[in-house]
Amino acid sequence: MKNQTSAFHYTQFPGKAIAEKLIESALFYKNSPRYDSQKGQGKRLGCIFLNPSLRTRVSTQIAASNLGMESVVLNMDKEAWALEMKEGAVMNKTTVEHIKDAAGVLGSYFDFLAVRAFPTLTDQQSDMEDEVINKFIKHTGRSIISLESALRHPLQSLADHVTIREKSQKKKPKVVLTWAPHIKSIPHAVANSFAEWTLGMEYDLTITHPRGYELDSQFTQGATIEYDQSKALKDADFVYVKNWSSFEDYGKIHHTDPAWMLTESHLKEAPEAQVMHCLPVRRNLELSDEILDGPRALIQNQAANRVFAAQAVLSHLLDLQKP
Ligand code: CP
Repeated sequence: MKNQTSAFHYTQFPGKAIAEKLIESALFYKNSPRYDSQKGQGKRLGCIFLNPSLRTRVSTQIAASNLGMESVVLNMDKEAWALEMKEGAVMNKTTVEHIKDAAGVLGSYFDFLAVRAFPTLTDQQSDMEDEVINKFIKHTGRSIISLESALRHPLQSLADHVTIREKSQKKKPKVVLTWAPHIKSIPHAVANSFAEWTLGMEYDLTITHPRGYELDSQFTQGATIEYDQSKALKDADFVYVKNWSSFEDYGKIHHTDPAWMLTESHLKEAPEAQVMHCLPVRRNLELSDEILDGPRALIQNQAANRVFAAQAVLSHLLDLQKP
């Protein structure tokens, strides 16, 4: 949790001690979803989406409801005014409302704001500054929860680590993050965040991808980078499959070799491997049907755990607001 203003924000790996607490809390709520059904009474959560969502939107609303908290969804990209981000802009083109005005108004309507704002994948500087979510932090005066920003997807990563905790036979499992082919330019946020969390939890992390797909090193320091996918996968306990575009040649697609798509034959030397993906997944492009529909797949567990991850974070934020 960062403390940039007077409020706390859930926008990145919160440190191992808080992460452990959130994982335990999520597992508790999974057993007893309504245990704290009055805890959020009188509080209102605004869920602001600048991009589409299935899991994040629904799981966050259910989590709020489990805590007795009201939630309101605003699809800002479709239902609200086009936002201007630049300080001092002369707004004589397509943007209608400045983010500082919109964020200020939303801050007055809600106790907490949750925001989804994907990267541009064209303006690296703005994306690296995580401009949209940081402007919400600056101008709302409320606790902000990231529903996936340009750089990170911390609610997804918490759900992923709840899933690993549930399914791991080992204290320190071997975790592999493997790049997958895709036809579109895809953000780095899920991969960045998963790497940040996995290293933060002090697990053994190997990242494998074709040359040219190195992630930003601020998220991968401490991981083993292995360009040979079969070597990386050997003896893996958990294999996280994800596409991302080039970071160095920002947002570009260099390589779409279908040989990188995970199939059963890739896992001959990882007999115990359980396979993860955040969804949505493009079947038989990123991951094969045989894996997705087979016993190794944890995708439904991860998605189910999104509710309890969000509930743990909201509950934590409510605790921090107690006088
Ligand atoms: N994994 C995830 O964030 O899914 P949505 O984009 O559907 O919310």
